Amino acid sequence: MENIINDVLKEIENITDTKTLYDVRVKYLGKKGIISELLSILGTLSIEEKKEKGPIINNLKQEVTRILDDKNREIELKLLNEKLKNEKIDISLPSTKINIGAPNILEKLIEEVEELLMSMGYDVVDGPEVEEDRYNFEMLNIPKGHPARDAQDTFYIEGEEILLRSQTSPVQVRTMLENKGEKSIRMICPGKTYRRDDDDATHSHQFMQIEGLLVDKDISLSDLKGTIDVIVKKLFGQDIVTRFRPSYYQFTEPSVEVDISCFNCKGNGCNICKNTGWITVAGAGIVHPNVLKMGGYDPSIWSGFAFGFGAERLAMLKYGINDLRVFYNTDLREVNTFDRKDVE
Ligand code: DAH
Repeated sequence: MENIINDVLKEIENITDTKTLYDVRVKYLGKKGIISELLSILGTLSIEEKKEKGPIINNLKQEVTRILDDKNREIELKLLNEKLKNEKIDISLPSTKINIGAPNILEKLIEEVEELLMSMGYDVVDGPEVEEDRYNFEMLNIPKGHPARDAQDTFYIEGEEILLRSQTSPVQVRTMLENKGEKSIRMICPGKTYRRDDDDATHSHQFMQIEGLLVDKDISLSDLKGTIDVIVKKLFGQDIVTRFRPSYYQFTEPSVEVDISCFNCKGNGCNICKNTGWITVAGAGIVHPNVLKMGGYDPSIWSGFAFGFGAERLAMLKYGINDLRVFYNTDLREVNTFDRKDVE
């Protein structure tokens, strides 16, 4: 027994890897190994001899197993320590730069308008982008064949009835119908709109509008003006002045074009206001009685105002962006040119 143990110890003395150690284990403890052979010889002996030799061989087996296990642990520990030594972390190495995202400035602007109007009791509502002709046009007082439809080159999806909304104004009709001519309405709807326009610095086949509708009793143009005034002052500064110019929309009467005094030159003339001192930011007006009627509101009782801002236009003015396409590409070099302090 001692000879065998000495042999094992001698054999493993210089082993430094677990693979070679495993070979030694097989040689002694494997199915056809030296110790297994001794055990099989044991089977051929007489009972007395078995009683005498059995425990000796079993002890031998246990001792060899223990020696090999210890050695295995020792090798593994040594390898681990070596690995740890080589894998030292160099904390002086410069780290990888991770780009940090910032909110999309268009969303940011919309949120700002939403928050303001919500504080004034408005609900933020949604409407479908795939819309029916009757909501996008007919119930807004724009019947089939009306020349005003030409101005909104529309994407039709199925025949003449299903289209991609060319404006967010259909949400006015939907909201009126939902309220069944009974309740006053204060809603805004920021959302995507689509037109068959060629993309350039100021046009896009897809853009965003912020629609507003208020229906109540005894509503006048001055209510509209006051509301628009609060919005533009919040976005562009307290010294901004609002002006209404007569305009024409089928769903409002009277209709106006909303101008703000140029925040850049304060009215002295610059390239942003094209030397006029004024910048157009929205269309608006008093809801046409026909539209109220089609929406289920009795125009002899109810009146209202509506407005529509171009969201990209507002963001371009606010952040000094001169190309609308910037909002819809993902080129970080361009996106990063915006002043992050403004938008974070
Ligand atoms: N829907 C109009 C457009 O896309 C904008 C607009 C004008 C909306 C007047 C309104 C409004 O609600 O009252 O050109």
